[in-house]
Amino acid sequence: MLMVTGANGNLGGAVIANLKAMVGPSGFVAGTRDPLSPFARELAASGVAVRRVDFDDPASLPAALEGVAAALFISTYAPNSERPRQNLAFIEAAKTAGVRRLVYTSFAGASPTASADHTVQVHWPTEQALAASGLDYTILRHALYADIMVGDLDETLATGVLRRAGGSARCCYIARDDLGVSAATVLTKPGHENRIYTETMQQALTCAEIAGVMSEVFGRTIRYEPVPSAEWAQYMTDHWGVPLELSKSSIGTMRAIENGEFDIATGDYEAITGRKPQTMKQFLEGVAADRPGA
Ligand SMILES: NC(=O)c1ccc[n+]([C@@H]2O[C@H](COP(=O)([O-])OP(=O)(O)OC[C@H]3O[C@@H](n4cnc5c(N)ncnc54)[C@H](OP(=O)(O)O)[C@@H]3O)[C@@H](O)[C@H]2O)c1
Repeated sequence: MLMVTGANGNLGGAVIANLKAMVGPSGFVAGTRDPLSPFARELAASGVAVRRVDFDDPASLPAALEGVAAALFISTYAPNSERPRQNLAFIEAAKTAGVRRLVYTSFAGASPTASADHTVQVHWPTEQALAASGLDYTILRHALYADIMVGDLDETLATGVLRRAGGSARCCYIARDDLGVSAATVLTKPGHENRIYTETMQQALTCAEIAGVMSEVFGRTIRYEPVPSAEWAQYMTDHWGVPLELSKSSIGTMRAIENGEFDIATGDYEAITGRKPQTMKQFLEGVAADRPGA
């Protein structure tokens, strides 16, 4: 039996849609903190086993992991100070339950010396713990989600300005929906044991280039205006209402973009799935098509 955690999340949902197609609803377990959410109820009604999984409640894990041979555990949005404990709790519970392989969603450029705080404080130690666990593991180092370019699309289109940190550096992105395909593939197919993949679009892009693609797709001029990484946390808080406590943890990531640490496009996505990831243009065309009134 296979498992994916975080069923109610965006990535969890994308993985589940692909698992349903690949192994059918009875071929996997969906883990979530809230088995009574509307989506979890829908899953259960469609024949998917839904079990309660809360990394903050290790007592929930033994029953959830019973009979599970391989599990994808999706990193949470909790503060960096809490996430290593959450991940280690899941790894320990998996070992005890006899799970044979764990798949983990890490971040591009994971290393002990990266500029991004969450990479150093959460993803790198989790990767190390997986490597030392004695279990087979697969690490999916995700590029930045292309989706973060359109979180404030209405404002971008209304003002004609794309405001992001990054300056003139190139950065790799990937559509979150594509990551649902690759994670489900890695979970269901053999040959991914003890491998580390960095999943990116085929080309790293500057924000100015992305603004250019947006202009083309949405049929209006959009220019890029850099926000210095040091000012990014305050920008997120002022414009998007993200609590400063949380937005501060993204400063290092923005500095990493400016430093060119994510200028690392790879062919790993195609190697896993046998198909090319969406380009930024294809991703934005999908966003445009899904907009109300399109
Ligand atoms: N590469 C990037 O650019 C990028 C960008 C944003 C986020 N991320 C990372 O990717 C992850 C998934 O992104 P997303 O967009 O799908 O985020 P999301 O929709 O907010 O999902 C967060 C997930 O965390 C799960 N979760 C939260 N607390 C948990 C706990 N205590 N125990 C177990 N699961 C818990 C939730 O599942 P339930 O509610 O079902 O329990 C949910 O699936 C994020 O959490 C973050 O670590 C990466």
